Amino acid sequence: MAVTPPTWSPSSWRELAALQQPQWPDPAALEQAVERLKAMPPLVFAGEARQLRASLAEVAAGRAFLLQAGDCAESFREFSAVAIREKLKIMLQMAAVLTYGAALPVVKVGRIAGQFTKPRTSPTEDVDGVTIPSFRGHMVHDDLPTAEARIPDPARMVQGYHQSTATLNLLRAFTKGGFADITRVHEWNQEFVASSPEGRRYERLATQIERALRFMAACGIDLETEQQLHQVDVWTSHEGLLLDYEEGLTRRDSLTGDWYDCSAHMLWIGERTRDPNGAHAEFFSGVHNPLGVKVGPAATVDEVVDLCERLDPERTPGRLTLIARLGADRVHELLPPLLRAVREAEHAVVWACDPMHGNVFRTASGFKTRSFGVIMSEIEGFFAACHDEDVWPGGVHLEFTGEDVTECLGGSEEVLEEHLSARYDTLCDPRLNARQSLDLAFHLAELMQNGGRALAG
Ligand code: PEP
Ligand code: CO
Repeated sequence: MAVTPPTWSPSSWRELAALQQPQWPDPAALEQAVERLKAMPPLVFAGEARQLRASLAEVAAGRAFLLQAGDCAESFREFSAVAIREKLKIMLQMAAVLTYGAALPVVKVGRIAGQFTKPRTSPTEDVDGVTIPSFRGHMVHDDLPTAEARIPDPARMVQGYHQSTATLNLLRAFTKGGFADITRVHEWNQEFVASSPEGRRYERLATQIERALRFMAACGIDLETEQQLHQVDVWTSHEGLLLDYEEGLTRRDSLTGDWYDCSAHMLWIGERTRDPNGAHAEFFSGVHNPLGVKVGPAATVDEVVDLCERLDPERTPGRLTLIARLGADRVHELLPPLLRAVREAEHAVVWACDPMHGNVFRTASGFKTRSFGVIMSEIEGFFAACHDEDVWPGGVHLEFTGEDVTECLGGSEEVLEEHLSARYDTLCDPRLNARQSLDLAFHLAELMQNGGRALAG
């Protein structure tokens, strides 16, 4: 694994101009908040980040698949055990569909327990003729559309830390304490999902899984003692945008002496902050967590290869996940040269597809939305490009929720434009609801069956 460069320290990013940071009004309050974060226990352990890296190395080698998904922006207000459980349920359902359908291990990574900051294309927005600062996430300020609510408050970073702690605690309990036990595969189907076509399809799949388990038991395999059937790993991730927060939670691992950003298992650098010579690349070059980088349509081949060199100089499998978000209409044209260049530079990266962020549009009535069909079409384009370039289509990166929201259009129980206002609850980008997510998982499993076979042949 990369040796931390001698000039690097958790604060060396401060020498560079960091994009997309809040203008904290009170430097003393900022310092106090960062000092408090530095005194807090880590959220995750270095050993866990290494385990995730090893799992992602399996993905990079074409032997596993990455499912990274969750909220666009977590909320300080919508924070409950039920909401966390429902998100986990849909993650487990999707993973069951993919694991069973494609016969591959699925590495599950949530956009959860720390996804509280948002980059913005424009620093301001107009609300009823008044210009106010854009919403940058609950770890920065409140989302209410007033100038006062949008004043950055660094104490919110400490609140974000505490909410992440509670979220992660519950996730660990659910995933290790019986809820994620494969024998409970039927119970993950929520009522509003179960009555839909994909919910019924899921019921049939769950029954097949149960039958397979009974078959194994009848063959004399002691299912009780097989830990993998009773517990799962769900790792945490968020965009490593707010560098004051990330620095505050960076610790040196006592075992290896390496630095880890202990705010999450995996961190990614967003489309707007991925300058290879920028502050974010500087900060993340020195921590040993697995990293993601979003790759949008403006990314050049040279930039992407530079980022690989900057963040993965030792070419460590699983260190880097490149998350392409090119748009359904451009993925065919833009992805192949990037796949080729990274392969030629010999970086064993995971290539994942974010079919959400390149496909946003506004309806006539003003809702920011995405269409299920277009989302699927970018995933198909991603698989086709990977197949043509003989690169493993390693995963997907999605925005979803376990709730019955109406934020994205389409799906088998179609959400239409006139439905959007019914339950449009997101703090930021439109999310797939649980039915649409399950629908997507079935489509994806079919694609993987074909793609996998074509690649192996
Ligand atoms: C996001 O993942 O919510 C996001 C802002 O993505 P991107 O950086 O790709 O625009
Ligand atoms: Co988003």
